[in-house]
Amino acid sequence: MNIQDIIELKIERIVYQGKGLARFGEKKLSIFVENVLPNEVIKAKITSINKNYATAELTEIIEPSKHRIKPFCPIYNACGSCQLQICDYDYLIELKTAILKDIFPDFEIEPVIKSPKVLGYRHKTQYPARQTKNSKRIMLGYFKKQSHILTNIKFCPLQPDIINKIAQFIREYFPCDCYSETSHKGLLRHVLTRITTKNDILLTFILNSDKINPLLYDFSKKITLEFPQIKGIYANFNKSKTNKILGDKSKKILGNDYIIEYLNDKCYKIGPESFFQVNPSAAAELFNIVKENIKPNSNILDAYAGVGAIGIYVKDKVKSITYVEENLEAAMFAEENYKLNNLKNYEILKGDAKKHFINFKKENKIFDYIILDPPRSGCDKEGLEAISELAENIIYVSCNPQTLKRDMEILNGKGFKIKLLKGVDLFPHTYHIECVMILEKGE
Ligand SMILES: C[S@@+](CC[C@H](N)C(=O)[O-])C[C@H]1O[C@@H](n2cnc3c(N)ncnc32)[C@H](O)[C@@H]1O
Repeated sequence: MNIQDIIELKIERIVYQGKGLARFGEKKLSIFVENVLPNEVIKAKITSINKNYATAELTEIIEPSKHRIKPFCPIYNACGSCQLQICDYDYLIELKTAILKDIFPDFEIEPVIKSPKVLGYRHKTQYPARQTKNSKRIMLGYFKKQSHILTNIKFCPLQPDIINKIAQFIREYFPCDCYSETSHKGLLRHVLTRITTKNDILLTFILNSDKINPLLYDFSKKITLEFPQIKGIYANFNKSKTNKILGDKSKKILGNDYIIEYLNDKCYKIGPESFFQVNPSAAAELFNIVKENIKPNSNILDAYAGVGAIGIYVKDKVKSITYVEENLEAAMFAEENYKLNNLKNYEILKGDAKKHFINFKKENKIFDYIILDPPRSGCDKEGLEAISELAENIIYVSCNPQTLKRDMEILNGKGFKIKLLKGVDLFPHTYHIECVMILEKGE
């Protein structure tokens, strides 16, 4: 087999990252192909060959899956931000459940819980901003897969339509140049929007600068006149030459400091740098699982806690909350959110979670439950070893089943057994899966 060869394959299954797996030849070499579904017979062109696997690009579908549909987004192929718009939603849920079974073969896995909304669900958008070479037209969209080539996205069905309209207004009227990664010149790097379920919007211009260009004050007035749903506008300063999106400092340009999101009877102030789940209606499903698995009157450690979302959601079961988070803005809003939701018995600890876990161990602190909700990279081994001595129950919320598995194995080694593992579809039409794992210390 050589690069560029076109071969016929039958797809066995879909693996994490939405890739189809097929086997080829006597040695049954694993070949990964995108945009395919289980049982499809296809032709594909080999694009890379490694020791244990190869990758190939779909060239023809010989026998399509009965679940195959035409992607509903007209720029599905150019954009690359969704990977699995090629099948109906019920089947996508089956695929995500099968992917979890693949990663955690030893556990009973119930079907992944569907998102209440499958379109317009994405309440946070981060568009890189660039300009065309000659006409200098502003483009906002996503980078094509594994590249920094921008697809100008005039309409994304996954986000509320007003965000498409705001993006278009910025394309037409933004008064300054956009950033260029090659020259490191130009002002606007990214446009970040966050919209609540009540349609209040916080807009952030991420700037290659350390101050607000005076032209942005007038532009901000103009855009809020056009879209009164915009309640606040910020500038965030990021002069780094890295791929990091947000810089460490933000300054308000006009309007409110925050927007307020509501999940059932709980409410949350969210600022420009604070994390909040992108799909609020599905996040409530996720948090319900956490709540169901906490006994009343518990002392809880809410680690990687953002604006305090999970701790507040489960507050009816809580005697005390110890909050740990490194983002200072999120910690500031968490404190306000605790007050807003009438939580009284809490302690807010800022800084790196691992350091706090190690300190808790030194201080012989004990909790009834530890909630972990780290970023995609998961937790640190030393931190996990420390927390394994702080509680008998761990509730691990994860947006990356692979790092969840790695961390679960460390906790298994410390005597924790899985009581429950459930997936929730926070990200319809993509390969991403959010999970809750309940771990309990065994005999
Ligand atoms: C996936 S978010 C979860 C936030 C929150 N639990 C929620 O549901 O909204 C992860 C959070 O961990 C924080 N974080 C990332 N690395 C951290 C670290 N080393 N120590 C403490 N917090 C960290 C991020 O700022 C972010 O707020």
